[in-house]
Amino acid sequence: MNCIIRPLASKDELFLWEMLYQALYVPEGQLALPHEAIHLPELARYVQGWGQPGDCGFLASDETTGQPVGAVWLRLLKNENKGYGYVDDDTPELSIAVLPEYRGQGIGTDLLNCLVASGYKHSSISLSVSEGNPAFRLYERFGFEVVSKNAGSLTMKRDY
Ligand SMILES: CC(C)(COP(=O)(O)OP(=O)(O)OC[C@H]1O[C@@H](n2cnc3c(N)ncnc32)[C@H](O)[C@@H]1OP(=O)(O)O)[C@@H](O)C(=O)NCCC(=O)NCCS
Repeated sequence: MNCIIRPLASKDELFLWEMLYQALYVPEGQLALPHEAIHLPELARYVQGWGQPGDCGFLASDETTGQPVGAVWLRLLKNENKGYGYVDDDTPELSIAVLPEYRGQGIGTDLLNCLVASGYKHSSISLSVSEGNPAFRLYERFGFEVVSKNAGSLTMKRDY
């Protein structure tokens, strides 16, 4: 499939909620979380009110059908809103997901390439990934390094 990648806009918030759900890691043999889980404050903060100053990201869609298939986004989460991948007040956290039927075809890589080429104003970005999530390999290829580990989750950071 050929995809088109464009910057995220406020109107994409609904799709980002779906992407937030798709980004939740479910270890093999475990049941997926209910969809409502994304409205828990610790998850909703990644997407709620998308389009605030500093929000930045890209959306991939199927060139033929126009259907959105994946997204990568950055948000600075600090103070009472710290996220799972918090490292400091100047480092936004990265989230990424591709719809299940489109995974493993290079779309996540294309999204990350767009993001790192976009000249985002912060000097580093961070993320949280569960141990065992295959996405870890993708992050390593993009130069993310583990900076801490806590209860099965790894915090990774990449300098811009
Ligand atoms: C992670 C993800 C965005 C990557 O997008 P993609 O289009 O599948 O990635 P690409 O095809 O460009 O690159 C392949 C890499 O993606 C990762 N990947 C592929 N399928 C994956 C899956 N089902 N779950 C997690 N990561 C996956 C692997 O690192 C893979 O590298 P490898 O071939 O060395 O194993 C996508 O697979 C996904 O949405 N996974 C589920 C959500 C998730 O885990 N998000 C990250 C939370 S921290």
